[in-house]
Amino acid sequence: MNNPTETKIKRVLTGITTSGIPHLGNLAGAVLPAISASQKPDTSSFLFLADYHSLIKNQDPSLTHDSSFEVAACWLACGLNPRTVTFYRQSDIPDIFELNWILSCLAAKGLLNRAHAYKAAVSNNEEAGSNDPDKGVTMGLYNYPVLMAADILMFRANIVPVGQDQKQHIEMTRDIATRFNHHYGELFTIPDPQIDEVTGVLPGTDGQKMSKSYNNTIPIFANDKKLRKAVMKIKTNSLEPGEPKDPSTCSVFKIFKAFATESEATSFRQNYENGIAWGKAKETLFELLDEVLKPYREEYQKLTRDKKFVENTLREGATKARDVSEPLLHDVRKAVGIRAFS
Ligand code: TRP
Repeated sequence: MNNPTETKIKRVLTGITTSGIPHLGNLAGAVLPAISASQKPDTSSFLFLADYHSLIKNQDPSLTHDSSFEVAACWLACGLNPRTVTFYRQSDIPDIFELNWILSCLAAKGLLNRAHAYKAAVSNNEEAGSNDPDKGVTMGLYNYPVLMAADILMFRANIVPVGQDQKQHIEMTRDIATRFNHHYGELFTIPDPQIDEVTGVLPGTDGQKMSKSYNNTIPIFANDKKLRKAVMKIKTNSLEPGEPKDPSTCSVFKIFKAFATESEATSFRQNYENGIAWGKAKETLFELLDEVLKPYREEYQKLTRDKKFVENTLREGATKARDVSEPLLHDVRKAVGIRAFS
């Protein structure tokens, strides 16, 4: 039956590489926006842990295992409702890896030669004067965009929210899907990227974008002592107490604003104009964060004591996901000529 309300539902899919516990920047820029987007009635959200993608950068088994749990628990603790979204682990969906191979046989090597991550590795080697431009480059790094295309095409996603750095991968996905559809028949949906707004970027303790690689993050789930310590590290200028301060260029204010109500932000802004001391401003930010993060922290602690719940949740998610991937993979195999003789 052709249900007109159903046909309007957009499938939104995104993956989270499981490399390290998410921080406040991820919370404001990705986790909370994705959770609120998943609550829209016209959206069907597919959210998954890209745990096999994480092997590209990390070959420490316990780190791989722990990160996967931490990221899963983070999303659940921050309010993701596994009943209304399809929340799963990439490694639980073998169909993705079978599709990965089929797509590899269609993806032009020249296309992958142009991938930013690969090109950056090559140019680092050249700059270092190495006579092997591919030094340290694994096939995992090289094929990364194909696996990502398989993640997306396997579920016929319409929209893929990603950071600016991932835009090229969505273009490659579109390219590979178009080739497949042209050659074997229209089985795949061509996805559109949805690029995160730069305005959602939170500064870290040194004023640059908050990022694990800059070592300037503020944790979400640490206890209040550690949280205070991170907040007190935020870099400010040398204006004295009593001197008016500019909130628009201040990391303390920007972080505060990302988690405060409008009226809280307005009164904090007033304090800046009145020359609040930096120590006091940071204390105010700490108190806000401590309050806002408390429920997430408590929920996260609960989940760390109930790993079985997280495991079962992901397994149920995988079952839901496979209801979508299995029939499509069946059609894909058939389309390429891999099927029973009789
Ligand atoms: N490569 C993405 C990142 O590092 C994670 C990812 C893997 C992804 N597969 C995906 C994102 C599919 C969107 C769709 O951010």
